[in-house]
Amino acid sequence: MTTTTNKNNSSQLVDRFGRRVEYIRLSVTDRCDFRCVYCMAEEMEFLPRSEVLSLEELYFVAQAFVDLGVNKIRLTGGEPLVRRGILSLVEKLGQLPAELLITTNGSQLAGMAADLKRLGVDRLNISLDSLQDDKFKRLTRTGRLHQVLAGIDAAVAAGFKRIKLNAVVLKGRNDDEVLDLISFARDKGVDITFIEEMPLGAITEHDRAEAYCSSDELLALIKPAYPLIDCTEKTGGPSRYYRMADSDSRVGFISPHSHNFCSECNRVRMTVEGRLLLCLGNEHSMDLRQVIREHPGDIERLKQHLIQAMDLKPEQHHFDLDDDAPQIVRFMNMTGG
Ligand code: GTP
Ligand code: 5AD
Ligand code: SF4
Repeated sequence: MTTTTNKNNSSQLVDRFGRRVEYIRLSVTDRCDFRCVYCMAEEMEFLPRSEVLSLEELYFVAQAFVDLGVNKIRLTGGEPLVRRGILSLVEKLGQLPAELLITTNGSQLAGMAADLKRLGVDRLNISLDSLQDDKFKRLTRTGRLHQVLAGIDAAVAAGFKRIKLNAVVLKGRNDDEVLDLISFARDKGVDITFIEEMPLGAITEHDRAEAYCSSDELLALIKPAYPLIDCTEKTGGPSRYYRMADSDSRVGFISPHSHNFCSECNRVRMTVEGRLLLCLGNEHSMDLRQVIREHPGDIERLKQHLIQAMDLKPEQHHFDLDDDAPQIVRFMNMTGG
């Protein structure tokens, strides 16, 4: 047993480049009810249950990270809210001295948003790539826009500290909706971030190089309609934010291709198999499942492994859109982004 006492200390997790890891992204399932074209193949095989960490094991890992000074826990998927029993995990994590966040596709939020807020979730990030039924369907393959919109309304009503929409922008598919998406975010009083697509996993629906839409192109498109004001506000993630004079909503950009942010990286992620990935764009990893299953309850041993794992964190990602074969074969649903 241990106590989680490091709330105010800075993290003990420091890599070879002096970066302090304060943010853990925990994937709680590789499953998802959507099949977004940039994230998954149409036919996917998911992990068998025996390979997947239990909710208790997930909590144990989170506890070890918080003990070491991590102050931000984000639950991801696949779609985290389709994991059976997720609310019981959220309830326990909500009591740890760290910010608790979820990145979701929004499909389950209409029924769950109020509970998530009550159990201690601070902020939600909700994916929304289109406001048009048919386009939303084509991008998510199995998603229903009206469900997600109802989920966003439920989240707004629940009163989270902040809500951010995430839109992956693809040329010729949804780049014509950028201004509409900003207008929607302003109406709802939420933030919105536009993301450059990353080449994780081999997809078939579009050519990633052709669909590439840089954040600078979007800025040029947005500025005449919504004058954007530079701001230095950060949420601990990779977004660069701008403000608008007549709204509380912020417009953010995540630009892994055009504005590399690796030098400021403060995060690691764990897949639901218990593989600690030191970087989204590299394969450097440590098998934590083996550590926790061979030594159940030994949190000090797990913490030592986490400290050692920092030596494996690579300096940066090298995403290459022109190369046909993706350097990273795992799909985004393994890491939750
Ligand atoms: P905030 O706490 O609101 O700042 O969230 P966030 O942007 O950290 O998390 P979110 O789950 O909304 O992630 C948005 C996008 O950022 C996803 O597409 C992630 O894949 C991407 N992202 C997050 N961290 C990294 C990273 O370390 N490297 C790269 N290349 N992309 C990242
Ligand atoms: N490139 C960029 N973002 C992606 N996401 C999923 N796959 C990709 C990709 N290949 C985004 C989702 C979600 C977040 C967790 O990651 O849209 O907002
Ligand atoms: Fe599911 Fe999110 Fe991947 Fe879409 S991006 S298929 S919602 S995990």
